[in-house]
Amino acid sequence: MMKAPRGTRDLLPPDTNLWNRVEAKVRDVLARYNYHEVRTPIFEDTQLFSRSVGEETDIVSKEMFTWEDRGRAQSDKAQSLTLRPENTASVVRAYIEHGLFKTGTLQKLYYIGPQFRRERPQKGRYRQFYQIGAEIIGPPSAGSESPLRDAEVLDMLATLLDEVGLRGWQLQLNSVGCAADRARYNQALRQALQPVLHQMCDDCKRRAETNPLRVLDCKVPEDQPIIERLPRILQYLDEPCREHFAAVRAMLDAVGIAYVINERMVRGLDYYTRTTFEFTHGGLGSQNSVLGGGRYDGLSESLDGPKAPGIGFAIGEDRLVLALESEGETAVEKIQAYVAPLGTGMNVPAIKLARELRRAGVSADLGDESLRLKKSFDLAEKAGARFIVIVGENEVASDQFTVKNLASGQQVQIARAELAKYLSHNS
Ligand code: HAM
Repeated sequence: MMKAPRGTRDLLPPDTNLWNRVEAKVRDVLARYNYHEVRTPIFEDTQLFSRSVGEETDIVSKEMFTWEDRGRAQSDKAQSLTLRPENTASVVRAYIEHGLFKTGTLQKLYYIGPQFRRERPQKGRYRQFYQIGAEIIGPPSAGSESPLRDAEVLDMLATLLDEVGLRGWQLQLNSVGCAADRARYNQALRQALQPVLHQMCDDCKRRAETNPLRVLDCKVPEDQPIIERLPRILQYLDEPCREHFAAVRAMLDAVGIAYVINERMVRGLDYYTRTTFEFTHGGLGSQNSVLGGGRYDGLSESLDGPKAPGIGFAIGEDRLVLALESEGETAVEKIQAYVAPLGTGMNVPAIKLARELRRAGVSADLGDESLRLKKSFDLAEKAGARFIVIVGENEVASDQFTVKNLASGQQVQIARAELAKYLSHNS
């Protein structure tokens, strides 16, 4: 039997109902904050990711699906292409490529779509997963550097999660400063790690060499007391970065958005500057980050674009759905009516009636005259219908239909002209 590749999955009904409900709500909230959709290709030049996400990150060094694409002619040079592991780099590339900076305004762009990382699959971690993300990017003259942007993004996310109906989320906040701050911090970490490194796990030993920040990500229990005593990033911020972070916090406090400072939160991408954040949820197990994001003030320039500071986030949609399910959210969607033709020759009047109802806005499913009444009731219940509408010879003759409420058992006769209204008002 053929199976979907490791780390991928089929999303089937009724689960897809919940996915669509989430996406509809997200589009609604994003529109209220004046975001507009952007759709970028699913694969890009490999260099786009190595230059933005960073050569040394796990994503680029081990998790990308990359292949050599031969040109049509023998003489064409092969090009290295990669399935996108994230979408921020593509959005910034598109921003530069299409000269969106020339508008002189802030671009508020969102996307919904699959991303690909060759990770070890587990609950909440897949090789093809879905992100709902957004970026605000623009010239400093349009206010792109302001801490107000950071606060507005976080406010939007809190509103979005509330409106989607997720309750138990927590906002974790940090600042990774600017490149100079991080260089000083890395230096301090290296120094602090040197005398204790022999007691730490092999991964930490390696990370201390290549990227000491990653040591903070270590989950090995024995290493935790050592990590807790390491220097803290917030002590290494320069004055402008410190002020920026204080302004973001003050606005969150003023708006009433609760957060915890997590100085150990190390985001897995190199482009971040200043504010970084994750929203976590207790129902997710070890992959507890529903979404992550932050500022990337130098990303456009590192891709040969103009100075265009930005901030954004990506929600892991798979995880958001899992978190909602852990809170008891169900995917089942009811339909209003099940139209059941009863007896030979009843399919024709039944399809006419179902058509009328559907055109009047009633959600309806349709049986078949070959089914016995008991089977029709069975199927109506399985379809999640609130009412069954019987189309038999008597009904057709009188133009009055037998309508039964499947939950209460109550049965009434309703005239054709009143039927759509009756079904809509009572379901
Ligand atoms: P990220 O933290 O790598 O950030 O991913 C964002 C979210 O995607 C995670 O919090 C998680 O919910 C989900 N996610 C990541 N990997 C997987 C996976 N293998 N399976 C399921 N879900 C996953 C970014 O991608 C940045 N581009 C976010 C951003 C936008 N920063 C600024 N703008």
